[in-house]
Amino acid sequence: MTTSPTVHDTLPDDHFVRALHDDVREGLTADPKTLPPKWFYDERGSELFTRVTRLPEYYLTRAERQILRAHAPDIAAQTRARTLVELGSGSSEKTRTLLDALTAGGTLRRYAPVDVSRTELASAAAALTEAYPGLDVTATVADFDRELPLPEGPGPRLVAFLGSTIGNFDPADRAAFLGRLSAALTPNDAVLIGADLVKSPATLVRAYDDAQGVTAEFNKNLLRVLNRELRADFDPGAFDHVAVWNENAERVEMYLRARFGHTVRLPALDLSVAFAQGETLRTELSTKFRRPRLTTDLQRAGLNPTHWWTDPQNRFTLLLARPTDQTG
Ligand code: SAH
Ligand code: AVI
Repeated sequence: MTTSPTVHDTLPDDHFVRALHDDVREGLTADPKTLPPKWFYDERGSELFTRVTRLPEYYLTRAERQILRAHAPDIAAQTRARTLVELGSGSSEKTRTLLDALTAGGTLRRYAPVDVSRTELASAAAALTEAYPGLDVTATVADFDRELPLPEGPGPRLVAFLGSTIGNFDPADRAAFLGRLSAALTPNDAVLIGADLVKSPATLVRAYDDAQGVTAEFNKNLLRVLNRELRADFDPGAFDHVAVWNENAERVEMYLRARFGHTVRLPALDLSVAFAQGETLRTELSTKFRRPRLTTDLQRAGLNPTHWWTDPQNRFTLLLARPTDQTG
């Protein structure tokens, strides 16, 4: 018999409804229109993301997995973590490599995944509880834009933020997030961040505009979430999926672009929103990094990167950082 994992829900029942209402009202009445990417990830959105990670064009997951397979024992030796916290853990699939290395190193006691997607989190936690008997799996449904529910211990703790989700913040939100993360750490803790690297625009755009149209479906899933949660009447067929490389900001930007002028009604918000033909709704930023920018961002937040690993093709990086006090 296996024990069930603990799934804490730190949010009031109506939290996502209220937060969604606020985000949608603000984002759809702004010029240009934007919405935060966390609303992609209902059950269908999480499934679509998993399909994205298996696409030939979406190299990120494979590159990060390659790095983890090659260097998880180093990470385990460097951190000797007793608690692995993971922010935006999703399916936790790649994390198994880290769990294996920390288990082999004899230190790991607890795995604490945190995600906004309750169904994805619960099924990942159940699968890991079965796969790692004796590991204390404590999952938390939370929005890391608002809070970072790090368990107290046992320490040392390693906080993983994989998949280049760090790229989905704009610069101000990234600085705020790293500052909150740094403030939540004790001197013995460490963070492990996965970040995608700048490369040819053609490769980058293909990764976000795949031939099978899975990323387009993932993007349009946002509209389905709004239709269900806000009784909105978005027609996903009235929008094109668009991915563009923003050279100045070094990021891929994902948009939904209205194919013709029309008005969408959102009765739950008592709101009507007009889209002109060709008007865009920005749904996601995926920043691509160079080492100096990441180093500066981390240092400004009080984190000092101590180790960098990349895949053989230099597409992606995993870095380990510690609170600055600890490393001088
Ligand atoms: N770490 C996994 C999943 C990356 S997808 C991987 O590397 O493959 C991004 C994950 O972050 C999703 O599971 C999504 O539900 C979660 N997420 C996005 N925004 C979030 C937020 N604001 N708070 C908590 N989780 C969030
Ligand atoms: C979760 N995040 C890092 C993914 C990314 O690459 O920005 C989400 C994604 N969007 C489109 N494809 C994948």
